[in-house]
Amino acid sequence: MRERVLVLDFGGQYNMLIARRVRENHVYAEIRAWNRITADQIAAAGYKGVILTGGPNSVYDPASPHFDAALLNLGVPILGICYGHQLMAWMAGGEIASAGSVSEYGKIGLTVSDSPLFAGVPAGSVCWMSHTDYVKTPPPGFSVIASTALCPCAAMADEGRRLYGVQFHPEVTHTQYGRQILHNFLFAICGCAGDWTMEDFAASTVERLRGELEGKRALCALSGGVDSAVAAALLHKAVGDRLVCVFVDHGLLRKGEADEVERVFRGQLGMRLIRVDAEERFLARLAGVAEPERKRRIIGEEFIRIFEEEAKKLGQIDVLVQGTIYPDVVESGSGEAALIKSHHNVGGLPERMDFERVVEPLRELFKDEVRAVGLTLGLPETLVYRQPFPGPGLAVRVLGEVTKEKLDTLREADAVFREEIEKAGLSDRPSQYFAVLTDERSVGVKGDMRSYGRTVALRAVTTDDFMTADWTRLPYEVLAAASGRITNELRNVSRVVYDISSKPPATVEWE
Ligand code: XMP
Repeated sequence: MRERVLVLDFGGQYNMLIARRVRENHVYAEIRAWNRITADQIAAAGYKGVILTGGPNSVYDPASPHFDAALLNLGVPILGICYGHQLMAWMAGGEIASAGSVSEYGKIGLTVSDSPLFAGVPAGSVCWMSHTDYVKTPPPGFSVIASTALCPCAAMADEGRRLYGVQFHPEVTHTQYGRQILHNFLFAICGCAGDWTMEDFAASTVERLRGELEGKRALCALSGGVDSAVAAALLHKAVGDRLVCVFVDHGLLRKGEADEVERVFRGQLGMRLIRVDAEERFLARLAGVAEPERKRRIIGEEFIRIFEEEAKKLGQIDVLVQGTIYPDVVESGSGEAALIKSHHNVGGLPERMDFERVVEPLRELFKDEVRAVGLTLGLPETLVYRQPFPGPGLAVRVLGEVTKEKLDTLREADAVFREEIEKAGLSDRPSQYFAVLTDERSVGVKGDMRSYGRTVALRAVTTDDFMTADWTRLPYEVLAAASGRITNELRNVSRVVYDISSKPPATVEWE
């Protein structure tokens, strides 16, 4: 059986990050909400270790999440983090108190003592704290193994039972030796082997699907994005020509993108690909529509319609393949239920179609893992490291009504901007960068003639998670080169501006 560690979710904001940190060590981590699994099920599942996450509650609040104390006697090593640390102390009979005005937040000096959990961690370092409650008296059998100026029990251990708790957050990078501490827990304490690799994942998934889908026909909608591409490539290895991919080119992609999809999937990987050139249909439906949400809805609906038409032409199809990934499956911090969100690769897929089953081969993977699988399957880096791109495509980057002329102008301006950034070989590449075609015209002068051309906005952002983002301080030379080329090469553009808004309050996209 595959080696696994359980991340028992008590609603903390870092639960997903904890799982990622575990997986960085080549140990498979699975997130489960605290009320969706019992101690018996944990025992039966054979986890190598359990990590109790943080959470916003206080253990004294009867409504806060608690857990069956039998968990501590299963013989499975446990690491409690923040709320998980307090909960473990509570379950084992320790005393928790509110720190009130002396609560800790931010980078705090940490003193550790001798423990396998802290092997390789110097006596003094910095950790990330964010708490009000703290463990005042560790439970019987536990000893204090770390402290800060304000927190007498920053970490505790019952070494005999392999139970550990830390008040700070080892999963965030502000904790200087956080990675080392998690590494120690996984290897020295849980005895993990660390053999979870993307090559193995790809090979075993292909093997499994080959068995499960014998003789079945599968259909996959490609969007040009990495998730559906990797899902399709996996399925293709498993069922070969019994997989058909449908790629709806809505005419809202970036320059050269649709041809690239065709070249890679049909040309390079030899897959059965149906490319539907539907630009005219989409443009006809978008004519006269300026409102962003209406544009999104129309594109979603039209996509579904075309996809259904194509599926019908193919006759009996048994399996629908989707590129759902782990963050789509796990509702972060839910504490209530591991809700399953519907996944929208392009604009959503038909809700009621006549399939025997839906296959989601990437359900267990984080984005960086999906990319690694893509590379092992031979997908090109341009596709694997593609920037995020909205499903409704350039329709939300052409402000106001979408027309062919505006799209073509935007495509060219966007291609120039991307080329200039790539050419500059920046050490810190922005996370996402693109051009927007505003609905403004402005006066300019071109070849001694007055011009009244369009205004292009350039946008580049730096972010880890796209929830917040800062505008990228691009070198002036790069902006100058892009602006010069765009106004020179595009007859109908007379002005280029750079967007210096962060998110929040702005969003990454303009619409
Ligand atoms: P915002 O504009 O909300 O964008 O700050 C955050 C990230 O999401 C992408 N985005 C979308 N992706 N469908 C998508 O699949 C959409 O409708 C959509 N809108 C924005 C955006 O490019 C950025 O990476």
